[in-house]
Amino acid sequence: MKAVVVYESLWGNTARIAGAIAEGIGPEAQVLSTAAATAAAIAHADLIVAGAPVLGFKLPTEKMRESIRANPGKAPAPPDLSHPAMRTWLDALPAGQGAAAAFDTQVRGPFGSAAPAIAEALEKAGYTAVAKPAGFIVAGKFGPLRDGEIERARAWGAELAQALA
Ligand SMILES: Cc1cc2nc3c(=O)[nH]c(=O)nc-3n(C[C@H](O)[C@H](O)[C@H](O)COP(=O)(O)O)c2cc1C
Repeated sequence: MKAVVVYESLWGNTARIAGAIAEGIGPEAQVLSTAAATAAAIAHADLIVAGAPVLGFKLPTEKMRESIRANPGKAPAPPDLSHPAMRTWLDALPAGQGAAAAFDTQVRGPFGSAAPAIAEALEKAGYTAVAKPAGFIVAGKFGPLRDGEIERARAWGAELAQALA
């Protein structure tokens, strides 16, 4: 099975969850940023899992990323804006026929989500959802991930693999 976990991550939380999901899927799963996940890299994938942080209550927009670039606030580290927004990656996603699942990282509370928008875009491109969109929780605005979230992500990855088996 070809499985690819694609992420957008400014401070590493979403990238860490992506890595844990891939571990749960199995050794064949690849973890790629939106820059590395080119059309060639994801071609013929049986499973695409895509994730991004929730910023400003939603899937990050270019405007939001630009405002963070201009004013990173009290960020503990500079944001990693080296790879495109998930939103931009999804806009360019070629049509496909594999399975898909979407996740986000977010603070706990009614502060929006990104995974449902990702799931919708994947389905629009022809992919079939194999799980409900999942959210993984950070303890503060910039992270770190809450205790247990890495393990939960690994378990979710294993569930995805099982759904396809
Ligand atoms: C500028 C900024 C805006 C944020 N807005 C939201 C939000 O609206 N809702 C939410 O649940 N979390 C919000 N968060 C928390 C992030 O979603 C969380 O830290 C995420 O894990 C960051 O992912 P990354 O480390 O992969 O970039 C915000 C964080 C920052 C820095």
